[in-house]
Amino acid sequence: MHLTVVILAAGQGTRMRSDLPKVLHPVGGRPMLARVVDAARSLNPQRIGIVHGHGGDQVRARFHDSPLEWVAQERQLGTAHAVAQALPLARPDDLLLVLYGDVPLILPSTLERLVTAMDEADLALLTVHLDDPKGYGRIVRDDRGQVLRIVEEKDASPVEREIREVNTGILAARAADLSRWIGQIGNDNAQGEFYLTDAIELAVADDRRVQAVVARDAREVMGVNDKRQLAEVERAWQRRQAEALMRDGVTLLDPARFDLRGTLHAGRDVVIDIDVIIEGEVTLGDGVRIGAHTILRDCTIGAGSDIRPHSIVEQAEIGERCLIGPFARIRPDTALADEVHVGNFVELKKARVAAASKINHLSYVGDAEVGARVNIGAGTITCNYDGANKHLTTIGDDAFIGSDTSLVAPVTVGAGATIGAGSVVTRDAPPGELTVTRAKQQTIPGWKRPVKQPKP
Ligand code: UD1
Ligand code: MG
Repeated sequence: MHLTVVILAAGQGTRMRSDLPKVLHPVGGRPMLARVVDAARSLNPQRIGIVHGHGGDQVRARFHDSPLEWVAQERQLGTAHAVAQALPLARPDDLLLVLYGDVPLILPSTLERLVTAMDEADLALLTVHLDDPKGYGRIVRDDRGQVLRIVEEKDASPVEREIREVNTGILAARAADLSRWIGQIGNDNAQGEFYLTDAIELAVADDRRVQAVVARDAREVMGVNDKRQLAEVERAWQRRQAEALMRDGVTLLDPARFDLRGTLHAGRDVVIDIDVIIEGEVTLGDGVRIGAHTILRDCTIGAGSDIRPHSIVEQAEIGERCLIGPFARIRPDTALADEVHVGNFVELKKARVAAASKINHLSYVGDAEVGARVNIGAGTITCNYDGANKHLTTIGDDAFIGSDTSLVAPVTVGAGATIGAGSVVTRDAPPGELTVTRAKQQTIPGWKRPVKQPKP
């Protein structure tokens, strides 16, 4: 079967009150339109056409590397007019599936049901039952349950407005049939628009088989017109992902306070506390624990590691059984081997740290190679930047860096070296020796602290 998918995305999105075209607003960190395209692709269609209008260039630019057909609709004269613009993409006997760029949660399985319904129908439409059908086109059926037509809310009688089965807008038909029906659709209605929904009545008049497929979950067909609906759709998407993760065995202490804006691969017995945000591609090994208020972006965390609350990990690889945070910031190009400890108010950037090293308090370690079993004392800073260039700090295995040390890069601390607290290290420190740069402590005997003179 030859399938062409047409995605309508020409609406202005005025109610979003945004400079960003509506279909580029993200849901789960990905533009709504990209989610619809994903769902369309799951059906392996021959072609995907997108009808764009307002902000078309911006939308196309976002998808420049995908094989999509773009069709401009200069003026938004209605959904039938929009589909008409895309009809030349399809061959007459193609099955044509109409989707909406602002209905991003549609499931591939539902689209498959619709396509399958076409085996025994000439037009298949997706409907849903809503407690509050306000604003939607209502599905009018006869007393045998056959769909007769769709009536838009603005054109509906008071009795028709009571109907709670509504049109999702999503439908499928043969291109030749749709083309013929659309050719007969006028705009003599409350909105002066060419309604695609009129195709149903025309199909019935042609004695063709119209089949309604009812969506099981209203959340799947929610549309986005404004920021309130965008937030609702976001929550529904997050709920769907949280449920999938919990089915796979991830413990989410509160699925309502969990946000995944990308892809999470999680092992067994992963526990995620509240208000965690996961972005990009994140992998968590078995038994990983993620503390509250933590952000993870494009990173891998090895089995048994514990990321404590209020930590941020970005583009980093963390080994097994590491302890990170609370309040740690791990920046891009950082790689920690196993059993590394990174404590509170520690910032790491482009640092490689070998196994069992500890950086426990108030430190900045950037552009650094740190060996195994190194202890970096509180307040240690790698001075990696000279105002123009970044330089490397190298610390050998088993070194001990005393608190409040500045390591002025480029500089090397040898294996097993000790740096005395408060040192400013500007030259290489030899292995195995104590290096200390601070002034010698002295005591001035009998020194008196100044006192305030009494006012005369
Ligand atoms: C439409 C349906 C209604 C259904 C509802 C579901 C019609 C006449 N009505 O109503 O039965 O219950 O969707 O949300 O189809 N678009 C274009 N070009 C146009 C007009 C619209 O691309 O000229 C796109 C919009 O960007 C939007 C979609 O088509 O993505 C639906 O258009 P909209 O104006 O929102 O239709 P509704 O009045 O919501
Ligand atoms: Mg709408």
